Amino acid sequence: MELKLVLILTLISATVTAEYIRPQPRKTLHIPWPLDSNSKSQSYPHQVHISLAGDKHMRITWITDDKHNSPSFVQYGILPGKYDSIAEGESTSYNYLLYSSGKIHHTVIGPLEDNTVYFYRCGGQGHEFQLKTPPAQFPSTFAVAGDLGQTGWTESTLDHIDRCKYDVYLLPGDLSYADCMQHLWDTFGKLVEPLASTRPWMVTEGNHVEESMLSLMDGFVSYNSRWKMPFEESGSTSNLYYSFEVAGVHVIMLGSYADYDVYSEQYRWLKEDLSKVDRKKTPWLLVLFHVPWYNSNKAHQGAGDDMMAAMEPLLYAAGVDLVIAGHVHAYERSKRAYNGRLDPCGPVHITIGDGGNREGLAHRFINPQPKWSEFREASFGHGELRIVNSTHAFWSWHRNDDDQSVQADDIWITSLVSSGCVNQKSHELRSMLMKP
Ligand SMILES: *[C@@H]1O[C@H](CO)[C@@H](O)[C@H](O)[C@H]1NC(C)=O
Ligand SMILES: [Fe+2]
Repeated sequence: MELKLVLILTLISATVTAEYIRPQPRKTLHIPWPLDSNSKSQSYPHQVHISLAGDKHMRITWITDDKHNSPSFVQYGILPGKYDSIAEGESTSYNYLLYSSGKIHHTVIGPLEDNTVYFYRCGGQGHEFQLKTPPAQFPSTFAVAGDLGQTGWTESTLDHIDRCKYDVYLLPGDLSYADCMQHLWDTFGKLVEPLASTRPWMVTEGNHVEESMLSLMDGFVSYNSRWKMPFEESGSTSNLYYSFEVAGVHVIMLGSYADYDVYSEQYRWLKEDLSKVDRKKTPWLLVLFHVPWYNSNKAHQGAGDDMMAAMEPLLYAAGVDLVIAGHVHAYERSKRAYNGRLDPCGPVHITIGDGGNREGLAHRFINPQPKWSEFREASFGHGELRIVNSTHAFWSWHRNDDDQSVQADDIWITSLVSSGCVNQKSHELRSMLMKP
């Protein structure tokens, strides 16, 4: 009898050894606050991050404890310690209930050479940073992960992204998970500085950055003050949606938490932005926002439906190649789809809210798997999008639950320009753009 039991147990364990063993949940990091800035100086720059700011320009953002005297200039050049250029910027600060932010500096530098390392120093204080500008032509690489937070998982996601030699990081919403605890924006800024000060981080908003409090606090106060994106440079009136271009790719960052109906300012801006896209110059068209439209996870099921109803026809007519969203803490990749069905001229949809925040994973998927859904897995990780040339891009997703970066999903994507879809639909797009 006992022997039989042992035999059965051995058999069971032999059949499950091939299965993926999920490690224990990881804890929220405890980054000391106030930040230790290694210096007595109140104007010591911390939380340095950079973002693209129009053609050949970069915005440098940093925070100082001193609110009055610390200057907002950046010295920079292509040799370490030798700065032959200087740019003057602006600063802001905000109060949130009892919290009072440091001085938040935003300084745009440029024009900069493409694919070049620059050395820079903020406000004449602190140590020297270096950044690399994106290339002017293919190939280029984007790193992608949403819903980052600041846990042990976030740390390994950042570690893997750091090792992948990317040009620009795309974050489809939800950064610090501060959720009104304002000092957590500071600790997040410190956590991401080693990466975000060296490559442009392009972000859009998520629900965890809104932080509105009934009539007490407006929404997105902290997010907009700290993570200023090139909305003015792209003709938008709101930091919640904007666009930019990198080496043959036009990227549109939409706002899931700004009005998006066909009468909204966002929709009007989107039409204007699409009318300016030249697919000869930028054959690739990417769109990012927070709440996914194609999602077969039980988490946030249907939450993107309204935005999808309003905006999907326009994006389809424009021949968008790839749509990237976050919000759901898992990974999912669709086949080309439109209006809920397979469509060779629709975008590939990717949900990648798996950066590693404290809320953990969204484990439960709807069964059977919808026809449009090609790959789905509830694990943390990051994506890499390598735009190889005007017709081919290579997408890969790297699971990181167990510290190792494991490439778990990959696919070659051919552009909709090269498959003729963009040409085919150009009439449809033109008439949609003309509609008042
Ligand atoms: C683009 O890259 C793909 C994959 O490496 C290759 O097969 C194709 O020939 C390239 N196309 C052009 C126009 O260079
Ligand atoms: Fe979210």
